[in-house]
Amino acid sequence: MLTRVYRIAVDNIDEGSVRECCEIVSRGGIVVFPTETVYGLGASAYNGEAVKRIFIAKNRPMDNPLIVHISNKKQLYEVVEEVPEKIARAIDVLWPGPFTVLLRKGPRVAQEATANLPTVAVRMPAHPVALRLIDCAGPIAAPSANISGRPSPTTGFHAMVDMFGRADAIIDSGETLYGVESTIIDATSKPMKLLRPGAMPVEKIAEVLGEEIIITPEARGYRESERALAPGMKYKHYSPETPLILVEYREDVEKMVEDVIRVVEEVGGTGKKVAVIASSETFHRYKGLADKVLVYGSRKNVFEVARNLFKILRELDREGVDIAIVEGVEEKGLGLAVMNRLRKASSKVVKYHQNLYIPGHNSIQT
Ligand code: TXA
Ligand code: MG
Repeated sequence: MLTRVYRIAVDNIDEGSVRECCEIVSRGGIVVFPTETVYGLGASAYNGEAVKRIFIAKNRPMDNPLIVHISNKKQLYEVVEEVPEKIARAIDVLWPGPFTVLLRKGPRVAQEATANLPTVAVRMPAHPVALRLIDCAGPIAAPSANISGRPSPTTGFHAMVDMFGRADAIIDSGETLYGVESTIIDATSKPMKLLRPGAMPVEKIAEVLGEEIIITPEARGYRESERALAPGMKYKHYSPETPLILVEYREDVEKMVEDVIRVVEEVGGTGKKVAVIASSETFHRYKGLADKVLVYGSRKNVFEVARNLFKILRELDREGVDIAIVEGVEEKGLGLAVMNRLRKASSKVVKYHQNLYIPGHNSIQT
């Protein structure tokens, strides 16, 4: 497939390029576009055949529903059945922005976009290029523009790596602002429930709603239990090819990481290459102990950590190591989104004073 690439500057939007991409969407095409969180792969939310092409391009299971992106309030009433008073007031404050709300679906939205569910996830992205495209093309159903299971693209280049030859067009507008996806709240359940932590802190959403939001272990990214899960929460996510061990946060997490490096070297035998992903405060400790050290930013600035996270997970696979160990961050504000992604990306999560178990080997006491 021929993929057209458009470079559109955020501060100097070329209307001709937006119009061409809009025409591609209107004719049933699929287009990669930037948002303030991550890049999306979009099709008209009203065109089931076009939406199906997204699932094929991403290799995404058809039962995992998409988010419908809108650019104005009128479109909201086109895609949902009704908007509860409380939500109407909250979106006045939170939109445009990385807040996605689950409501009852309206009849116009293609069944393919919502995987036949009676609900639809909606958001208004805070990105001028995305808003212009949606103004022109109408509501756009879009998941993140990565091949299913890979880290979400936070640069136009990453979107091209995954989607060149798969999408009809790619808009490259440089690096995204947040680097993690939007926060998803289920407003059809009572009390409301966090489905996925993201770029907008759940504390802020709860404050604006004036209501408590339930945070389940699944929303924190812990391995799901046997019971049935919300669609989309059951799939492997964000995974680098390199096996990743996450060490849960505490103030002296770096000491535990050092122990884990030693254990990995013992059970892995000599010659195994180990990478550590750490903060700018702690990375120096691992020089000499690990083969590669990658820095995700300051642990005092979790916005920076979130922004670098997917980029680092993609970089990791080019470092030529056998295994990697990552330092957890505190689960506050954006830290909840970071830890959700890290838990899902890891093949093993280690807590303090726990038996260490390295896949394929015996359990080892530390
Ligand atoms: O920031 C974002 O949200 C990005 C940008 C492109 O907007 N989009 C994104 O989409 O992350 P995606 O498809 O990668 O993640 C959407 C999540 C999936 O886990 C999906 O299962 C869930 O939202 N979801 C969508 N519709 C749903 C529904 N009706 N019920 C339950 N979960 C739903
Ligand atoms: Mg995704």
